[in-house]
Amino acid sequence: MTELVDILRTEHHLSSNGYRSLLTCDDVKVNDYLQSQARQVANDVFGKGIFVRGLIELTNVCRNDCYYCGIRKSNTAVERYMLTAEQVMQCCEQGHKLGFRTFVLQGGELPRDKWQWIAGLVAEIKTSWYDCAVTLSLGEWPKDVYKEFRKAGADRYLLRHESHNATHYSMLHPAEMSLNNRLQCLNWLKELGFQVGTGIMAGSPWQTLDNIVEDIEFIENFQPEMIGLGPFVPQHETPLGNHATGSAVLTCKLYSIFRLMFPNALIPSTTALNSIDSHGRIKGIMAGANVVMPNLSPTNVRELYALYDGKSSVNAEAAEGIAQLEAQLKTIGYHINWSRGDFNKCTIHNAHNTQFIMHNFSTQN
Ligand code: 5AD
Repeated sequence: MTELVDILRTEHHLSSNGYRSLLTCDDVKVNDYLQSQARQVANDVFGKGIFVRGLIELTNVCRNDCYYCGIRKSNTAVERYMLTAEQVMQCCEQGHKLGFRTFVLQGGELPRDKWQWIAGLVAEIKTSWYDCAVTLSLGEWPKDVYKEFRKAGADRYLLRHESHNATHYSMLHPAEMSLNNRLQCLNWLKELGFQVGTGIMAGSPWQTLDNIVEDIEFIENFQPEMIGLGPFVPQHETPLGNHATGSAVLTCKLYSIFRLMFPNALIPSTTALNSIDSHGRIKGIMAGANVVMPNLSPTNVRELYALYDGKSSVNAEAAEGIAQLEAQLKTIGYHINWSRGDFNKCTIHNAHNTQFIMHNFSTQN
């Protein structure tokens, strides 16, 4: 079975059966090998640096009603909030001082007429902190609106496809939402020049092995710059609140598979993973993830952005806990890379490589 890992590392691709075999393999040795190969690839490309993104949870207002999500519109148990532009700018200011050079504006899907407000906010952030990247994670919009977001200066967009299987997608979402529209949005975002992220929840209700293989193959075909993937975690006020939590092992395995498929991809070790496993963040990095997204939202709204139960937003998960994050990374020989951390098709940070190039350079001269 280790041959499959070797093939995936060199060819960045496996047959459907190959993915199936890797996903179902519970041989510890093979899984350790998979992780170590993925980690080595991440180290070759990014060194021991982990990119950080300051996450600003703009709003928990949402026009959608996804069955798994704690901020779905039918959840009347949650108090709704929307940050003001001033609050967002304050978050960025605090984040910039701490060293963040990417801000992620994430939130529920706002009423359509809010697009101008969002575009204005992006423009304001980009003018004030021209050295920063802005990532949006605000769901589905018409193409023209995405275009306006891009014109305003947004660099990246996160939109998980959640499931590439139409039947499974419809089990997770109400009839008004369609997989086709989701995929259309992803294509538009790509066309418009965003660095695009997509992904799924590992272990979402009714997800089958074949669904995951289909998701992997969709992602392989779509070639995103970022891959967002965390375990499904039930939220007690949602229709799927009684379903089982996704597994940390599966989540990490998927990080490793995606790292071998996409050496240069930006793959966060997600908050959801760290929320279900106290060592989740580190485990994700050891499996090949290379990004973490500490929470920069005002502390009084963090509780309200309750996508799932037990979501962590303190200590190393919070921007103000950055020293803790740094200390934690140090225990595994990693550090924060404070640069913007854009997707780069051909970065090679490997120390040996650099030495190799330097050596050649000096012998030639
Ligand atoms: N468990 C895990 N992840 C969730 N998300 C939403 N609800 C949950 C949940 N219950 C994820 C979705 C969405 C992202 C913003 O948060 O995948 O795309």
